[in-house]
Amino acid sequence: MTAPPTPILKLTDIHKSYNVGTPVETEVLHGITLALREAEFVALKGPSGSGKSTLLNIIGLLERPTAGTLEIADQQTQSLDDAGLTRLRGATIGFVFQFHHLLPAFTALENVLLPSIIGHGTATPEAEALARELLARVGLKGAESKRPGELSGGMQQRVRLRGRCRSGPG
Ligand SMILES: Nc1ncnc2c1ncn2[C@@H]1O[C@H](COP(=O)(O)OP(=O)(O)OP(=O)(O)O)[C@@H](O)[C@H]1O
Ligand SMILES: [Mg+2]
Repeated sequence: MTAPPTPILKLTDIHKSYNVGTPVETEVLHGITLALREAEFVALKGPSGSGKSTLLNIIGLLERPTAGTLEIADQQTQSLDDAGLTRLRGATIGFVFQFHHLLPAFTALENVLLPSIIGHGTATPEAEALARELLARVGLKGAESKRPGELSGGMQQRVRLRGRCRSGPG
């Protein structure tokens, strides 16, 4: 038997309060402990205002918790400065925002390649081959050179999803 994979994401006793030190200080997250392993598929459910986006923003390194620790890919995050958080986020986190738009002047393929272009200054042939394969995998073969305005809403959302996959090393 092989040992279960070690967690790639570990949250320990995460608390988050808004308006700290003011009369309207509100604690939204009250001590969340959670571990996720590679290739696990997890859905976060809860009533409106219960703190789902707050938790995802913390996991995505967009907001810092008020207390508790967050470890991503064996790296503790609380001592990292903003530049360190940005680097770790770029290397490990993919985020699809509901209202985040594709860049309208770029084709579907170029939008998927943007993380690679930003990270390396150019899209490598390997990244382009992978991006084409990822688009094909979500049923967008033939749409590579279309711009977002020429795609349906659902097709655009699938381009966003692929764009957040690692389309190249690093
Ligand atoms: N920047 C902020 N400043 C103050 N309070 C905030 C801030 N962001 C969120 N809150 C409060 O934190 C609570 C949780 O908000 P959050 O957006 O995480 O909820 P949610 O579970 O994502 O809700 P929904 O399902 O409606 O998207 C809410 O009471 C909200 O008013
Ligand atoms: Mg929300």
